[in-house]
Amino acid sequence: MSIDSYEASRKRSDEIRADLPEHPEKYTMLTGDRPTGRLHLGHYFGTIRERVALQDLGVATRIIIADYQVITDRDSTENIADNVRNMVIDYLACGIDPEKTIIFTHSSVPALNQLMLPFLSLVTEAELLRNPTVKAEMEASGHTLTGLLLTYPVHQACDILFCKGNIVPVGKDQMPHIEQTRQIARRFNERYGHVFPEPDGLLNNSPAIPGLDGRKMSKSYGNAISLSSTDEETAKLIKKSQTDADRTITFDPEARPGVSALLTTAALCTGRTEEEIAAEIGDGGSGTLKKYVTESVNGYLAPIRARRQKLAQDMGYIEEVLHEGNRRANEIADATLDEVRATMGMVY
Ligand code: TRP
Repeated sequence: MSIDSYEASRKRSDEIRADLPEHPEKYTMLTGDRPTGRLHLGHYFGTIRERVALQDLGVATRIIIADYQVITDRDSTENIADNVRNMVIDYLACGIDPEKTIIFTHSSVPALNQLMLPFLSLVTEAELLRNPTVKAEMEASGHTLTGLLLTYPVHQACDILFCKGNIVPVGKDQMPHIEQTRQIARRFNERYGHVFPEPDGLLNNSPAIPGLDGRKMSKSYGNAISLSSTDEETAKLIKKSQTDADRTITFDPEARPGVSALLTTAALCTGRTEEEIAAEIGDGGSGTLKKYVTESVNGYLAPIRARRQKLAQDMGYIEEVLHEGNRRANEIADATLDEVRATMGMVY
């Protein structure tokens, strides 16, 4: 994605953010996650918190658990079902209300997947091969490029457009997919007739929460604090995080990534600034800092973890939430596919 179009996306994102509280009824939010593990603080501060806010503003909110995306770059489906159910638990524990927000999975909504056929006809091989996120994901996975990995941005366009989503809270890495989705919507509308909105990405304005080592927070780096961890697991993870020998705590992400990541984590959980916390700890060393971070994180997550535990005891309810979400998503997808067939003149 060029710098220019990134700047344009950022500008539209800011304009929408300003308009949202005034006209929530204009917007449908669609976003989602791959069910590859438990949600962590990076997900929470990066997007989950915002989804809850949009839901509570009265925006139509839909969350897809992207189970078909898991098989873009791995062979086993072994943990998917368990991850899907735990993801629902994580969402509800964070404040997603299934009465307001539709939670559903790819594999349960056939009409969504069928949009893939007309949509694939609207993109070129060169466009697919150019997508930088697809390339990066292929390299990270160590697998060769599968047809599904190559075309999953088109599948993501199906996720967004089946419900005529027009805002998509995502990180920067997903912006090429939003651009591709806009192109698909535009081309469909021009070629056959107007059906789809051109969705905008809603870019997060706060800096990404670093993992405990200062790199991006990711389960595969072992630097992530899961919402579902216990207080003890959280303490242990923070305790073994890499800091440095300087006893005086200062916020300096470049020179001191470990110490600074801990400060940012505590800052997000307490609403204080990194500098304020650093000044308070002074020359107390990383032991004092780690103790403070552990208390901040565990304190912040306590109500979420308590709700999580309660929800996990009633898996029948979790199943019901998924069934109802899938039912509602199917209703929307069926109506959109009917409209697509009619617009394409394929009604027999
Ligand atoms: N591709 C996203 C990720 O890897 C998950 C996802 C699937 C998604 N479908 C989506 C995000 C639709 C936004 C909109 O995290």
